[in-house]
Amino acid sequence: MHILELFPAGTRVDERGDLILGGHRAGALAAEYGTPLYVFDEPTLSARCRAYRDAWAQAYPGSSRVAYAGKAYLNVVLAQIIHREGLDLDVVSGGELFLALQAGFPPERIHFHGNNKSAAELALALDAGVGRLVVDNLDELRQLDQMTAARGERVGVWIRVSPGMDAHTHAYNQTGAVDSKFGFLWNGPALREVLGRLQAHPHLRLVGLHAHVGSQIWDLSLLAESAGRLVDLAADLGRPIEELSPGGGLAVPYTTDDPVVPVSACADRVAAAIVERCRRHRLPLPRVVVEPGRSLIAQAGVALYAVGARKSIPGTREYVSLDGGMADNIRPALYNARYSALLANQADRPGAQVVTLAGRFCESGDVLVRDVALPPLEPGDLVAIPMVGAYCLPLASNYNLVPRPAVVLLRPGRTDLIQRRETWQDLINRDQPVALS
Ligand SMILES: Cc1ncc(COP(=O)(O)O)c(C=O)c1O
Repeated sequence: MHILELFPAGTRVDERGDLILGGHRAGALAAEYGTPLYVFDEPTLSARCRAYRDAWAQAYPGSSRVAYAGKAYLNVVLAQIIHREGLDLDVVSGGELFLALQAGFPPERIHFHGNNKSAAELALALDAGVGRLVVDNLDELRQLDQMTAARGERVGVWIRVSPGMDAHTHAYNQTGAVDSKFGFLWNGPALREVLGRLQAHPHLRLVGLHAHVGSQIWDLSLLAESAGRLVDLAADLGRPIEELSPGGGLAVPYTTDDPVVPVSACADRVAAAIVERCRRHRLPLPRVVVEPGRSLIAQAGVALYAVGARKSIPGTREYVSLDGGMADNIRPALYNARYSALLANQADRPGAQVVTLAGRFCESGDVLVRDVALPPLEPGDLVAIPMVGAYCLPLASNYNLVPRPAVVLLRPGRTDLIQRRETWQDLINRDQPVALS
C-alpha cells in the first residue's frame, strides 16, 4: 500500500512537493489555523458512511441500520454530518448524548451504552426519548425499573451480552472476554436473570441483544462468531428477537504494512453468520444494527504538526520534536499504536533519514512515531500523520496545561473551523478563587 492511501481519499502531492488534503494545501491549512491541527475531510467521511450502508444493504437480506459509535470522535458538526448521512448514533455518556441532542440528532435514532450510567444520565436519556437504552448490568436494570415505574413510561432496551471471546487485539481494546467489565456473560446466570425479568416487564421492552468483542479486529471470524452467539441466545429465549447488534470493531490500517479489510468483506461475513444461525434455529431475521467507530472515521482525520527542536544521539537515535504529542494522541503511549508520517511540505522527497518523532510533553513515553524514514527535517517543517480521525481527540487531555488543538472540516473549495483551539485562559476558566489567610 502507498502511504497516500492512508490519507483521506484523493490526497495527492503537487508539483511543488506539497501535500494536498481534500484539495487544500497542508501548508496553507497550517498557516491559517496554526498547529497542531486536526483536519477532517468531509467527502471521505461521507464515503465511509455510504460504504457501510451499501455493504450491509447488499450483504444482509433483512433490514439493517448503521450507527456511528460516537466515542471514536464526536463534535457538533460531525454529529450533523452523521445524521445527514442517515446513520444512527451510539453514545456512551451524558456528555455525548447532550452533544447529539444539541446537534439536532433525532433521539429515537440514538442508543445509549455504558457500564455505569449515572441516574442523571439515564434521566437525560428518558427525558429526551432516546431510542434504545443498552442495559449493561443488574444494578442498572434495578435503577431503570424504578425510574421508568416512577415516570409510568415504557422504553425499548437492548441487553449487552459479553460473548466470552478473547479478541486478538490489545488487551485494553478487548471488550467481550469472560474477564470484562462490560455486559452479561453470554452463558452466565446474570443474563438468565435479566432476560427472565424482562419477559413481561411493564416498563422495559426487550427489543434487542448487543455484543461488541473489541476494537481494531482483523479476524472477521471473531465478529461473525460473536454475532452468531447472539442468535443462539435469541433461540434460547424461545422467541424471535427484533434487533441484533453485533457492535463495531473492524480494524483499519495505520501503516503501509497493515492489512486492509474492506467494509464489504466484514458485512458479508457477519451477515452470513446471522442468516445461517437464524436458519438453523428457524428464527426470522432480526433487524441488524452495526456500530462502527474507528473504521468509519479514522481515515477522514489527519494531524498536522510543526517540527521544533532536534536531538541527535549518534549511533542511538535521532529525535525530532513536534508541537503536539500524547495529550492530543495518546494511542502510541497507551496502546503502543504505530503510525505513519509524511513531511507535508516536501512530500515528494525520499525518506533519507530514520528519525523518531517525539511529542512535546514531559514524559519519555511521549513518542508519536518511532523509527520512521523521512527527508531531513528542519524546525518549521510540517509533519502530517494520517489515520488520526478515531480515538485521538476524544482521549485528548490538557496534560502539562497545553491547549488542545483546533479542528477544521475540509470540503471541496472551502475549509471551516469546527472546534477552535483552546487558549491558556480556557485552561484556568474552571478554577475558583479562594481567599487564603
Ligand atoms: C459498544 C461499542 N460499540 C461500538 C464500538 C466501536 O468500536 P470500533 O471503533 O472499533 O468500531 C465500541 C468501541 O469500543 C463499543 O464499545
